[in-house]
Amino acid sequence: MLDAVTPRSVPLRPAVADLPAYVPGARASVGAAAWKLSSNENPYPPLPGVVSAIADAAADANRYPDMYATELTAALADALGVRPESVVTGCGSVAVLGHVLAAVCGAGDEVVIPWRSFEAYPIAVAVAGATAVPVPLTDDARLDLVAMAAAVTDRTRVVVVCTPNNPTGPAVRTAELETLLASVPSDVLVVLDEAYVEFVRDPDAPDGLDVLAAHRNVVLLRTFSKAYGLAGLRVGYAVARRRIAAGIRATSTPFGVSHVAQRAAVVSLGAAGQLLDRVEAIVAERTRIVDRLRTQGWSVPDSQANFVWLGLGDRSGAFAAEAAAAGVLVRPFAGDGVRVSVGEPEATDLLLDVTAEWSAPRSA
Ligand SMILES: Cc1ncc(COP(=O)(O)O)c(C=O)c1O
Repeated sequence: MLDAVTPRSVPLRPAVADLPAYVPGARASVGAAAWKLSSNENPYPPLPGVVSAIADAAADANRYPDMYATELTAALADALGVRPESVVTGCGSVAVLGHVLAAVCGAGDEVVIPWRSFEAYPIAVAVAGATAVPVPLTDDARLDLVAMAAAVTDRTRVVVVCTPNNPTGPAVRTAELETLLASVPSDVLVVLDEAYVEFVRDPDAPDGLDVLAAHRNVVLLRTFSKAYGLAGLRVGYAVARRRIAAGIRATSTPFGVSHVAQRAAVVSLGAAGQLLDRVEAIVAERTRIVDRLRTQGWSVPDSQANFVWLGLGDRSGAFAAEAAAAGVLVRPFAGDGVRVSVGEPEATDLLLDVTAEWSAPRSA
């Protein structure tokens, strides 16, 4: 009598049931035109040679990709001056972060994260079964590495350092990072999330590869989504000591990077000179935005990434709505601020009109 039994629902893990939703950047609705400055994307389309490589690779879509992305891994190792065994690719660096956490964390473990920072962190930590320990940013929207070091306990397995910090923009400084690394036990993994590393121009910012060379407990996370403009194809990677890299590889989704994505990344890496010229143009546009905002009276943190931060607090949603009405989609973080990606100069002009008109007090 199946009908007589009240069916019980499949329980979700409590950590999963309580997960905060990852909120993607706003898109223009169908048929509407708007500049999309809401997802830290690269405004430039892939180079023609990359588009051709993508088209060619599509012809092999009936085959599984090379599971270990051998060609891409070798090209990255060559470009970075590390051994191929130290590089682990994955379906975007956000997935690689999940694999890193899966490799080292379990129930009851703690992961120290900065906050506000990349919104995937609390989700990834909860999915790994661990507990996120968020450490507030300083008043000038920087990571508070002293407080993060102080938050490390016997249960801490990982400390995540987002540099430059998404969504506020500043990069950490070499000296403060070294102080953190000196105080964190050597069996605690320090993840340097360098998704925006190619946009960094601050001479005080650390060189992640040097940091990795000097510390056995460091992992770098990087991506083809930002500077290399391949966000839609999902390719990221970790660089770590071989033993840790092997652990990350062991937890990775099999065939996590498609053949199309591997080919696009390899060809993009080969065209790094051209692509990094584009990064230079984005950095110049970032400087234009920050300078103009400051001239307009805004207090804007130093940005080392491809976005700028307006610390609008409770007025973030209202500002985003006003920008959308003017044709610019930005990313509000309720109660904290608004992140604006650096995109096309026309979009900058529209945004700067909105910021100039914004009537409420302007201190960020
Ligand atoms: C700090 C940071 N890390 C990682 C990522 C993930 O990038 P992807 O998964 O596209 O490689 C992002 C994307 O916005 C980010 O801002």
